[in-house]
Amino acid sequence: MNLEDAIANPQNLGEMTDADSVGTVGSPDCGDMVRLWIKYKEKDGRKVIDKASFQSFGCQTAIAVASMATELIRGKTREEALQMSAAELSQPLGPLPPMKIHCGQMVEGALRAALEGESAAVPVSSAPATPVGPTLADALSAAGKTAGKVKIVFGEKPASQS
Ligand code: FES
Repeated sequence: MNLEDAIANPQNLGEMTDADSVGTVGSPDCGDMVRLWIKYKEKDGRKVIDKASFQSFGCQTAIAVASMATELIRGKTREEALQMSAAELSQPLGPLPPMKIHCGQMVEGALRAALEGESAAVPVSSAPATPVGPTLADALSAAGKTAGKVKIVFGEKPASQS
């Protein structure tokens, strides 16, 4: 899938009501935000990502990268997904223009927030439902707080742009 296809037909778009974990990140570069949900399952004795979904108040590139990322992390363990960089998450879409690099980094940040928001020690069967608000706007109104498993992170602005 190339960038145009991912923009025209984003995958895994929307809230996941039965998610195990969720992460929300805002970009200080553009003010956009992305929220990403993760659901785990047991497979062959390993806890792997069953599915992921996202909402975005972001540009089309962020939507395309989030779409690709939610596809790429399926079947991976939490640790494997944590090792994926923004470049890896967007790699199938082709190289991003320099002014769009931060869009991919915002998606990577949301993925990390979601992955780190859920303890690896919690068995899938006993993981409680995620107490999150219904929309990304709720996360925006709660920005700066950590409520339940919702982890909101505002990334560092690169020194070269401050
Ligand atoms: Fe804000 Fe791309 S310009 S996420």
